[in-house]
Amino acid sequence: MILNEIFLKSKINFEIAKGNKIILGKNFLFDLSYCSGVIFLGHNHYIFKESLKFFLNKNISFFSNSNIYAVKLAKTIKHFFSNFKKIIFCSTGSESITKALRISRAMSSKQFIVCVTGSWHGSLDQTLFSPKKNLSPIPISSGLKDIDKENIIFIPYNDINKSKKILDKYNYNINCILVEPVTASLPIKEIGLYLKFLESYCKKNKIILIFDEIITAFRTQKGSVQKKFNIKPDITLIGKILGGGLPIAAIGISKKISDKINKLKRRIFFGGTFSGNTLSMLVGNNVTNYIKNNKKLVDKLIKNCEIFENKVNSFIAKNNIDAKVYRFDTILRIVFSSNTIQNRIQKDFLKKKYSKKKNKFVNFLLKNNIYYPKNGIILPSLANNNLKDINYIVNVICVGLKKYFKK
Ligand SMILES: Cc1ncc(COP(=O)(O)O)c(C=O)c1O
Repeated sequence: MILNEIFLKSKINFEIAKGNKIILGKNFLFDLSYCSGVIFLGHNHYIFKESLKFFLNKNISFFSNSNIYAVKLAKTIKHFFSNFKKIIFCSTGSESITKALRISRAMSSKQFIVCVTGSWHGSLDQTLFSPKKNLSPIPISSGLKDIDKENIIFIPYNDINKSKKILDKYNYNINCILVEPVTASLPIKEIGLYLKFLESYCKKNKIILIFDEIITAFRTQKGSVQKKFNIKPDITLIGKILGGGLPIAAIGISKKISDKINKLKRRIFFGGTFSGNTLSMLVGNNVTNYIKNNKKLVDKLIKNCEIFENKVNSFIAKNNIDAKVYRFDTILRIVFSSNTIQNRIQKDFLKKKYSKKKNKFVNFLLKNNIYYPKNGIILPSLANNNLKDINYIVNVICVGLKKYFKK
């Protein structure tokens, strides 16, 4: 099925989607983005629809104070994250990061926020910097404050030696380390050792460790990266899947930090009109409970993502193609280079080289009914647990890669 030229040339504005497809009149696109990883059950899943009906039929309304659905969701979150002593709800991931950094600063007056290359933490001034090749921060946006630039230090993802050197240099004044434990910009599997290093370094040097699991929570084996690698961060951020399509995020605080806040008698402001939004809480609770009760479906999706990765990578190897699929459980990315990439700096270095060819590749996929995410992060949903569709997607991707990226 070919989509007409007018559609391809116009800015795409989506409206309707069901399961693994975005519907466009009589046409459709297989979705590989699912609202940047939010719609984990698939579009318009019956759990989502039933939740909306329940909300309306019961005359449930909105309250800016506590409500029973926030309490229910907190209990479900505790099932996945038993180490959370306190849970603070927020409206967006960026808000949760802002507040996590506030908690961290309330605990210690040390200056530096250490960020890890390749991590993305959303639209907040304090982290809107990207590392140059020498790791010094450059602003991603106009309008940022010099003080935020002075407060941020980068360490290279998955490079223990270089990270340790930098941490040792600034150790006396490091407030916290903020990291996306598996970066969606380069989802590599061999990351456990690095994360363990960060955990032990933080413990030894009394630095607060903050895990941004906004993408990874609920879509990885055992429900989170921290559980998979048995790591206990001080503060954790979760979001995206948590609201099943509605705006939400949450901060989980460990017992150690919670006790410290009490001991130091810190008053930290957490308010927000929409932070316990009843509808987000209700939908979020039903969606996360569904995931809790259908662990096998998540495991099956992980297997199917492995099939995707292996098939495309073996096609790449056989056909001498300059690309490679990287995957961590259900997070995938195609990097348009067959060289082994260790971190995002190396990946971004290649970006300019392939950007024209990549646009052609993305258009080729569109013509063949596949929506490739703008940010390049493939975040499949449980609606992808269908081998026939996976094989179709794999075949089109292979043909596209051969057409544009053969060496
Ligand atoms: C890992 C990570 N952290 C934080 C954020 C920011 O979340 P939000 O867009 O809800 O503010 C995002 C958003 O994509 C993210 O991927």
